[in-house]
Amino acid sequence: MITKRYHFETIDSTNKKARELATEGAVHGTLVTADAQVSGIGRRGRSWSSEKEAGIYMSMVLRPEIETDKASMLTLVAAMAVEKAIAHICLTDTSDCEDIDIGRLMIKWPNDIVLNKKKVCGILTELSLEGREIEYIVLGIGINVNNKEFPEEISQTASSLSLECGRDLDRELLITEVWKQFAVYYELFLQTEDISLFQEEYEAALINKEENVKVLDPLGEYIGIAKGITNTGELIVETAGDVRYVSGGEVSVRGMYGYV
Ligand code: BTN
Repeated sequence: MITKRYHFETIDSTNKKARELATEGAVHGTLVTADAQVSGIGRRGRSWSSEKEAGIYMSMVLRPEIETDKASMLTLVAAMAVEKAIAHICLTDTSDCEDIDIGRLMIKWPNDIVLNKKKVCGILTELSLEGREIEYIVLGIGINVNNKEFPEEISQTASSLSLECGRDLDRELLITEVWKQFAVYYELFLQTEDISLFQEEYEAALINKEENVKVLDPLGEYIGIAKGITNTGELIVETAGDVRYVSGGEVSVRGMYGYV
C-alpha cells in the first residue's frame, strides 16, 4: 500500500504536508508520518493533540478511480483497518496484557476507534476535486499510542493504547499493521465500490448498536436507536415511527450520557 514514505521529526500537520505533496503530483500510496505535530488538525475545525513520540500521526495520499460521492466510505475503510490493526498489535503478545478484552475495542460511527469507551484514534479525510472528479484524497490518522496524559479538555473522553493495555507499544509496528490491514479492506471496497463485503464486520465492532443515541444534526437534534449501517456507510437510526439514514459530514452521534 505504501509506495513512498516521508518522515518528519516535527511538522505542522501531516495532512497539510500530504495535501502539498499531492498537489505537486505525489502518487497513490504516498505516506507522510511525523513524531510530532505542532498544528494537528481534527474534524470540525478542532485541533489534534500531537505530543512528541507519544502517538502516531500519519496521512496517506490516495487517488482512487471512484465516483466522488463514494469517497466518504474510505473513512469507514480506514476505521475498520485501524480497529483490526490495534486488535492485532495489542493481542499479539498477551503475556503482559492478559486482561485486554477485544469486546471493548470498538468503532464509534463513522470513524473513531474507542477502547474501554474512550477515544484512542481519530480519522480525518480530506477530498480535493478537479471539476467533479476526485483529484486526490488525503486520509489522516491519529492514534494515541503511548500517551500518559491528555489536555484537560479531552481528558474525560480520550485515552491511549498504553493506558488501556498497561504497556507501551511499538509505534512503527502499528503503522505497518494499519497499512497492511488498510490494503485488505481497500481491496474489498474497490470490488463493490461500497462496504458490503465488510459491513457485518464493521457492525460487529459498532459501539452503541441497539442502544439509544443522540444525533446532533445541525437541522435539529433527535434521539433514536442505532440499528447498524447501510452498505454505503450511513448509520441507521430508528426513531419513533421512522427510520433515518445518517451520513457523516456535519452530523455527530453521541451516547445518551456522553461521548459513547
Ligand atoms: C478527529 O478529529 O477525530 C480526527 C483527527 C485526525 C488527526 C490526524 S493526526 C494525523 C493527521 N494530521 C492531522 O493534522 N490530522 C490527522
